Amino acid sequence: MQEKVGRAFVERFAEEATLFASPGRINLIGEHTDYNGGYVFPGAVDKGVVAAIRPNGTQQICVVALDLEEEATFGLQEEEKPQASWAHYIFGVAREIQKRGHTIGGFDAVFSGNVPLGAGMSSSAALESTFAYALNDLFGCGIDRFELARIGQSTEHNYCGVKCGIMDQFASVFGKQGCLMRLDCRSMEFEYYPFNPQGYKLVLLDSRVKHQLTGSPYNDRRLSCERVAQALGQEFLRGATMEQLDAIRDQISEEDYKRARYIIGEERRVLAVCEALERGDYETVGRCMYETHWGMSKDYEVSCEELDFLAEVAEAAGVTGSRIMGGGFGGCTINLVKEELYEDFIARAKEEFNARYGHEPMVYDVVISDGSRRL
Ligand code: GLA
Repeated sequence: MQEKVGRAFVERFAEEATLFASPGRINLIGEHTDYNGGYVFPGAVDKGVVAAIRPNGTQQICVVALDLEEEATFGLQEEEKPQASWAHYIFGVAREIQKRGHTIGGFDAVFSGNVPLGAGMSSSAALESTFAYALNDLFGCGIDRFELARIGQSTEHNYCGVKCGIMDQFASVFGKQGCLMRLDCRSMEFEYYPFNPQGYKLVLLDSRVKHQLTGSPYNDRRLSCERVAQALGQEFLRGATMEQLDAIRDQISEEDYKRARYIIGEERRVLAVCEALERGDYETVGRCMYETHWGMSKDYEVSCEELDFLAEVAEAAGVTGSRIMGGGFGGCTINLVKEELYEDFIARAKEEFNARYGHEPMVYDVVISDGSRRL
């Protein structure tokens, strides 16, 4: 990908450019907890975005999306978003950097990516982080990594209509080979957890049901949580207990009650998983993953039939843990599988899913990798 992008830049702009990359992410557990001030447990993956970028001495930005064979041009100071939706991410990043008082110039860029789109692996965060990291580096803005992640998050909020939390951009920017990261989204403190479960594999099964958070009920979920937090007199749902939730049950809708019940359970599960990992207790990790799946399906209602089916196939095949990953409404399950069951599980999932839905899920082995970098 690196060579392809570099070559395409030279062909289009007749100059050499600097290459940058940022990854997509997985999340072991802690879903929809980030915007509730809770914990998440992601890691960066070996799939991402690579961009060749070169300042051009003008006030214009010219970007080629190699995979789509499309090009977008817009001014640094322009208020109007460009037409192509992929260009909103780059437009947003450039605007957000400038909003924070930094000076950048125009640039030419070519980029390509291999994070499966709509799979819940944060292809958009990979794109935002690549450009945020690169512009900071090329124009010497001196922005720290947390702020780079926030620039990506604000891009989603202000230019893409998704009121996301910080997990995806954080994971993309801070990723470290072989390590998951437990992030406290309230204090922004985090720890790297070397993750090498002996005898197990982590594998994603992509239902290929398209997941699009823009215009999805994602923002509604966030609003539910905010209403409950307010009824509890708290800034975030983080730290709330089931007793507290039950005490205000008649002040909130049944739907909001269920949403909050999931979040409270999920917060407990992230901590349980971290403790279990320290003991090498993968059975507990897996049990929590299934609990998350069914919480996301029944209480948070962000799963879909195909993903419930994949979690059921996993359970029937004796897989240690399986759950929907990411924002939901389609995408992947993440599966923790004993090595000796791996082949059988994949074959079974492909066959049974195909028999029911007419296509096989895609299979991605998880390789935990580094975050944003200059190549
Ligand atoms: C999306 C958002 C994240 C997070 C997850 C769910 O990926 O971008 O901020 O809320 O959904 O955990």
